[in-house]
Order: sequence, then C-alpha cells, then structure tokens
Amino acid sequence: MCGIVGYIGEQCAVPILLEGLAKLEYRGYDSAGIAVLDDGTVEVKKQKGKLNNLVNSMNGFYKEAVSGIGHTRWATHGRPNNENAHPHTDCTGKIAVVHNGIIENYMELREWLISRGHSFKSETDTEVLPHLIEELYQGDLVDTLQQVISKVEGSYAMVAMNAENSGELAAARHDSPLIIGLGEGENFLASDIPAILKHTRNTYILEDGEVARITPREVNISDSQGRPVLKEVFKVQWEQGQAEKNGYPHFMLKEIYEQPRAIRDTLAGRVSLDEGKVTLKEIKLDEEKVSQIDKIYITACGTAYHAGMVGKSIIESLARVPVEVDIASELRYRDVMMNENTLVIVISQSGETADTLASLREANRVGARTLAVTNVVDSSIAREAGDVLYTWAGPEIAVASTKAYTTQLVAMYLLGLYLAQKRETIDRGEAVEIINNLRELSTKVETTLQNGEKIKQFAEQYSNSTSSFFIGRGLDYAVALEGALKLKEISYMHAEAYAAGELKHGTLSLIVEGVPVVALATQQHVYDKMISNIKEVKARDATVLALAPEGFTGIEQVVDEAVFIPEAHPVIAPVLTVVPLQMLAYYMALQRGCDVDQPRNLAKSVTVE
Ligand code: G6P
Repeated sequence: MCGIVGYIGEQCAVPILLEGLAKLEYRGYDSAGIAVLDDGTVEVKKQKGKLNNLVNSMNGFYKEAVSGIGHTRWATHGRPNNENAHPHTDCTGKIAVVHNGIIENYMELREWLISRGHSFKSETDTEVLPHLIEELYQGDLVDTLQQVISKVEGSYAMVAMNAENSGELAAARHDSPLIIGLGEGENFLASDIPAILKHTRNTYILEDGEVARITPREVNISDSQGRPVLKEVFKVQWEQGQAEKNGYPHFMLKEIYEQPRAIRDTLAGRVSLDEGKVTLKEIKLDEEKVSQIDKIYITACGTAYHAGMVGKSIIESLARVPVEVDIASELRYRDVMMNENTLVIVISQSGETADTLASLREANRVGARTLAVTNVVDSSIAREAGDVLYTWAGPEIAVASTKAYTTQLVAMYLLGLYLAQKRETIDRGEAVEIINNLRELSTKVETTLQNGEKIKQFAEQYSNSTSSFFIGRGLDYAVALEGALKLKEISYMHAEAYAAGELKHGTLSLIVEGVPVVALATQQHVYDKMISNIKEVKARDATVLALAPEGFTGIEQVVDEAVFIPEAHPVIAPVLTVVPLQMLAYYMALQRGCDVDQPRNLAKSVTVE
C-alpha cells in the first residue's frame, strides 16, 4: 500500500514524479504529495484525495527542479488529510521522506524525539523518519539512513532527500517493495515497475535491509552492515502498453477482456495433449519429494484465497492429498501443524502481500516445503518460496482482481495435475480430458465474454438493490464467494455468498421479494440439489439470475434470467463462471456511479498487516 517514486537527473522532476504516481495510484489514493529540491531548499506540495487534486494544484510548482520524491497514500495511521499526506519533513524543513509500510515502534520513537525537542505536525508513524534523520545526521544522508533503520521496527520502503545533500536521494527497504530504475544521467525509484517503464527497463530490485545512494550517474547499494552490495540488473520484459488502458474506459474492463490471452500465456509450454502430461520445468518437486507430502496448506488473502479454495478441491480430487485452505492473516498466528512433509502453497498476485509473505516465512522457518503462485517476477514471495509457479496475467492495475484470479485457477489445475502425475493418482484418460479442456479454455472464455449485454441489462435493472446473495455448491460455492467479493468491493452493494444447502439455516430469512440472488449451477452431481435450493428462494419471491453450462437446459424455466456458459469439465467450470460475475460487478459499479478501478478504502497491494 502506498506508492512511492523518486527522480534525480537532468529533466524537470515534477512531471516525472506525477506521471509515476499516476501509475501507482492503484496502491492507495487517499492523498498524494511531492517534494522537490530547488536551489538548495526542499519544497513540498500535498493534497488530500486523489492524485488529480494534487495535479490541479501544481500551478507551475518548481518546474525547474531536477530531483524529487512523491507519494500516493493508503491511510494506516491518521486520517486521509493534508497534514497526514506524505512527504513528511523534519523541524527544519530541509529533510523530506516518503514511506510505504508501518513503523511499529513509532510511538516510543516519537516520544523520544519530542523529549529531544522535535515537534510533530501529523498523526502518522512516518513522521518519525525525517525527525530521526535530523536527530542523527552528521553530514552523510545514507549513513544516517543506516542508523535510522537500525532504530525502526516494522515494514518500510522509504526514500529521503536532504537540502544539504542536494545531489542524491537515499532509499531503504524492509518488507515493502522498492525498485531503482537505471537511466543515463538520471535514475528513478518506485514501488512498482509501471511507474518507471516509460523511462527504463533496467532495474535493481532492492532487497530487505539494503540501503541505496542514488545520484544522477550512480547507484550504490549497501547491506544493513554498510558493506557494498553488487546487484544484478533485472531487465523488465513487460510492454508499456500492458500497463495502459488501450482504449478501454477502465482497467478492470480491459483486464476482464484480457483473460483469454492471460490464460493462454499461463498454459503455454506447460501442457502436452499428446503425452497427456503437465510439465512444470521450474518446479523442483520430484516424485520422491511429492510422495513424501502428506498434507498441503494453501494460504492467501482476498481473491487469491478464493483461488485457493478452488485449488483445494482440485488437488484433493486429483492428487488425493488432504488440503487445508487458510486466510494468511489467520494462518500466521495459528499454531499450525507443519513439518518437512507439509507443502505450503502461497498464492499472491502481487507477491508482496504482508500477511501472505509472513505465512510463507513461517512455513520456511519450520522447514515445510513451500511453493508460490504469483504474477510478479522476482517479488518478495517469489524470491523466498522454495518453488515458484508464475501466472502470466501481465500487470493487473484495477484494484478488483480478475485476470490474476483466472490465471491463479489455471495454476491450480496445473499443480493438481502435476501432483497427481507424480503421485500416480490420475489415469492417462482423465489427464488427457482435463488437459484438452484447459487447451480449449481461452476460446470458451471468449465465448463467455459475449454475454456482456445480458449481464449489463440485469445490472441496470437491479442496481438499486441494497443487498444480494450468491449461492452455489462445491466449486460453485468457491466461485460464489469471489462473485460476492467483486460486487462488494467495487459497487458497494452488500453481497453475501452462501453454500446453497446452508441458506435455510438462517440466511433464508433475508430473502424477500425482489432480492437478487445469483445461483451458480455448474456441477452436475449436485445439479438437482441446486434446483431445489433455487426453488426455495423463488418461493420467497427472490429474483434469480442463474449461471449454468449450455447443456443444463430447463433451468431457465425456474429462474428469472439464465446465462449459459460453454460446456466444460466440471473442475474447469469456475474459470468460465466467474467471468459473468466479474462483468456483473463491473456494470453494477458503473450503474451506481462508483469508481471502478479505485474503490473507496481499498488498495491493490496490501503491504501492511
Ligand atoms: C488486496 C487486493 C485484492 C487481492 C488481495 C491479495 O486486497 O485488493 O484484489 O486479492 O489484496 O493480494 P495478492 O497480491 O496477495 O494476490
């Protein structure tokens, strides 16, 4: 959460910082601010609300400055107002800092600094950083930052500037991402790649404990002991257009429509129909190691957790190993029974989610085998997991996850098949059938996307509802949870997902005339049960939108509206079912006048616990 940028070179810093922040707004958008160094003084401008408020208030603000730092905030400590916006400064106004993360011991540091005569202007944890620099400064900004990080506890990516060291910026990281973009006669800093992609593809990825001195011509990195670190240049492979809207009104819609391509890319080179096999060259788990695994935990947050729920069902049924799925913020504080025969699968689009990373570290600590499914190459989670299976969704910018989710599901199929092959729990016929289904998947998603108009009409009709329900059984229940989450996060309509058979144990009392109920009925073995559950809500005059495979005729007679998805193997159905649900949330949010890509109070990358 929070996006930070930095620039030092020969060009005007302000537009570079603002453009960079625009690419990071998905990380938080409660307030934004920049600080530049001009003629030996640090000048700060900040505004609460979205970045546009800051942009509109610039009025030619220090356009000659050639170095600066910027920040877009997702509030943790202190309300989203101008005072709490970053950058924060010290008492003299010469030092400015932007920070992403949480300084956990800020209260005691703040008290100590106050006792030393410092005065604070904000309620933030971050403000202790510029004051600490001021307190400890003895002429060298980077040396001072080394001392500062030895005093702070918590997570941070931070960039500091000091009027007394005008030719450089200083940066440090611990548990929050920070990359350095390498230019010619100029260098960049950012929380994420899109912010610098326009300028350079050559980057250094800062590791935990590292501190960097960035001048226009040099980047020097040292470890926590101050010893120089030789970094390898990481070359970014993304195309710039991948991080743009390309004519779509919103990133979310673009990303929904990118799913066929994302699925194809995630499958590419990993499945062979002729051999009836999945090949995951990057995974080091061989037959012997796989045969030793007696328990699997899947852990993740948000949408990735819902992908994990589908993963549990697939791995258990294909590979016949017990799987538990746990929310990462729960697992990390639970006394989990893990050992060297446990496989812990962590799923994270960003590869930076604080709770997921902490759970991964706990699993590593107790000696479990760990495997990450992530969309971001070289992210913290990718680096720390024993094995990594990348999803190739490409950058996902909208806060609501769509293509990352469907590619996570694809990763679950691949893993399920892979483990089943190694454990010899699947016969060739079944493997071929599922692989065939996977190969046809992207075309089927394209067909499903053609339902847009029908979904839009349903959204228009029911956009004034205050509450909605999503019901399903088995895999459909896992998808119902994701559908309800999508609707809540971007349209702000209350939505609850229920295992269809559980509705009558309480929640049915909320089903009254006109309440929209989305019923998922893709699982043949419980189809009749689902029809009974649909009839139960219809008997209470709910309005039902059903999703079912094309062959399941008859359902349209019991519901108000039916959307048919292409027929597929039942384990594959979630990828197809979720697409109309993503569209439903999108059109509902549009209809209700919500900010689709940047819903209130949320952020894309949650690097605080
Ligand atoms: C945030 C995002 C969600 C995402 C979750 C986990 O809440 O808004 O879309 O599912 O974090 O993120 P991760 O990057 O770990 O998948």
